[in-house]
Amino acid sequence: MKQSYRLTMMFVSLAIILAVGRWATGNFEFATSQFWFIAGALLLILLSLVDQPHFSKDANVFVNGATALVSLFIVPESQRLSLWWIFCAWATYLIIASFILMAMRSRELFLETKAIQFFSRLNRAIGRPESIFSAYFLWGIFLQFGYPRDGIVINLLLLFWAIFMILNVPIIAQTVASFFEEKKDVAATTGVVTGIQSPRIAEVRLSAELPENIVGKQVALMLDGNEKAADGTLFEDRIVKGLRKGRVAITAFGSKWSEVSSGGRIELVLSDVATPPTRPIGAVAAGSSIGKLVFEIDPRISLHAGEVVKVKAEDANSYYQIIAANIAESILPDGNTSQSVRVTAGQLGLWNASQAMFDPVDWVPSAGELVVVSQGDSVAAMPPTGRCLVGCVPNSQFPVHVNVQDTITHNTALIGVTGSGKSYLAFHLIEAYIGAGIKVLVLDLTRQHWEFLQPKNPTPLATANDVTAWLNGDSRLAIHQFANATDGFPKATADFAGKCFEWLQTNTRLQAGVNIPAKLCIVLEEAHSLIPEWNQVAQQPDVQQVNRAARIILQGRKYGLGCLLITQRTANVTKTILNQCNTIFALRSFDQTGLDFLRNYMGEEYSQAISTLPQYTAILVGKASSSARPIILKITDFEDRWQNNPTLQTPATTD
Ligand SMILES: Nc1ncnc2c1ncn2[C@@H]1O[C@H](COP(=O)(O)OP(=O)(O)OP(=O)(O)O)[C@@H](O)[C@H]1O
Ligand SMILES: [Mg+2]
Repeated sequence: MKQSYRLTMMFVSLAIILAVGRWATGNFEFATSQFWFIAGALLLILLSLVDQPHFSKDANVFVNGATALVSLFIVPESQRLSLWWIFCAWATYLIIASFILMAMRSRELFLETKAIQFFSRLNRAIGRPESIFSAYFLWGIFLQFGYPRDGIVINLLLLFWAIFMILNVPIIAQTVASFFEEKKDVAATTGVVTGIQSPRIAEVRLSAELPENIVGKQVALMLDGNEKAADGTLFEDRIVKGLRKGRVAITAFGSKWSEVSSGGRIELVLSDVATPPTRPIGAVAAGSSIGKLVFEIDPRISLHAGEVVKVKAEDANSYYQIIAANIAESILPDGNTSQSVRVTAGQLGLWNASQAMFDPVDWVPSAGELVVVSQGDSVAAMPPTGRCLVGCVPNSQFPVHVNVQDTITHNTALIGVTGSGKSYLAFHLIEAYIGAGIKVLVLDLTRQHWEFLQPKNPTPLATANDVTAWLNGDSRLAIHQFANATDGFPKATADFAGKCFEWLQTNTRLQAGVNIPAKLCIVLEEAHSLIPEWNQVAQQPDVQQVNRAARIILQGRKYGLGCLLITQRTANVTKTILNQCNTIFALRSFDQTGLDFLRNYMGEEYSQAISTLPQYTAILVGKASSSARPIILKITDFEDRWQNNPTLQTPATTD
């Protein structure tokens, strides 16, 4: 209610009572000497309209009691009858009781004991200005004018009182005021603000009587005069050291926002608006940067590595993927501690629906903005042509795919411990290459490719000399299984690569400024045996063979030649080739050299996540990826993909 309405109402009420008094007594002396006027009119009107229009706190009740006691002394001694003594006792009780309550209370009322709550509420009822001073006023006018001696005056004053009380002038003033105010969708007071964390988070203490499941509700922060300071969303509700505490992310500041600094009480009012289905779990916190979102959540909330959260950025959503979490402990003012989970999420970016991929965001998430879990329900989209779907972001619908051309021309590595799903992912990529008209030569020690890729009619290649004939033919897939590699695997590998390179050189016409599209992919399964690191070779000449293979891979790019490197042991594979792999699928790995190597590609936080990745989950990074930044993906479920392959039941014997 606006101050101006209350003041207007006060002047109108005072004018009425002065007019009646003047008419009854013929002058204005009553205004200084008559108990009925002092006690009833001045205090009733002033206190209930100006000082305590809403409700009376303990301190107000104390003042009301003291004022009541002092005004009783205006009553001439001859008129101090039994009722006077009752009033005296009433005022004295209010003074003493509210003084004790003020001394005892240290917390908000809803947190206090039942007894304190009872007495405080009782005092508020019987210590309201309307209660005490109505009684005084009525008693005063009867003493002064004595019914029916001065019937008209008494009737007029009673009429005034009736209008003031029954029509309830403070409420009328409030109603008039609310008519001109913006409508507020607020229900009941539910807590108080205990602190503002700059710039947009309010810490609140919540009423124990509130229901569960209020996280996500819209709230209003109300100043003492019942004016709205801000709107917000409650995103945390938990018990800390026996108190129900919460945090509010402020979504809109009112014109009175600056008044929160005056130190007055700010109440929290919960709106009736239904909670949105996606609940906020935290707010953007310190430590966030352009690529990284940091927020703290209630330890009871369960999330998963790889899960997607979103933050509003202007009028779009910026997506982030959870990569790390740790328990954080903050020290409370009284020396106790409170725990929360500090979550770190890597940036995915803005969702570009037409390309079914993420566009990077070049700025930090807005401090204090709400963080909401996203399942990406409405984003399901198929990747554009030329791209191969490899999976989706865990617990979401966001597809993850790679550019088929880039995986070959810029080389790709699949790294992970045994059983992590490398070969299955390789079969899937190989099928995509064949589908795109690209030739694939698999150098396979495991026999797995021969068995699983039977439906693609692979051409068996016994020696490197068979390569040219195969490349001249129509068959897109060829597999060599090292049955008689007497000079060692690295030599055979380099020979095969060499033959491929020769053929491409002869059959490709280079044009300045035109990139040759991918033509041939060499798959190096168990690459640590085919292209070992120099300190892992079986015999010294292997070093030269590995270097020869590396040179071919490096030069082959010009002619559309690339490789798909698959290994369990990053440490044992030559870095001269691994370093040329621009796209990396990192599945679960434990070896330190591997993690050190991957750290350079994806940064500290992602590389730490590699050792705890769930099964068939990978971190994809590099040129071919649909995400400009590293992305954790759940690889498509291939369990039944090659199940109906008849050769799997009857092992092949051909080499
Ligand atoms: N995407 C997937 N979805 C479901 N199951 C999978 C998937 N990938 C692999 N598997 C299962 O895990 C098993 C091991 O996978 P795979 O052979 O690809 O592992 P690997 O990483 O190549 O292991 P190794 O290093 O020993 O060759 C498969 O036999 C299959 O049952
Ligand atoms: Mg394998």
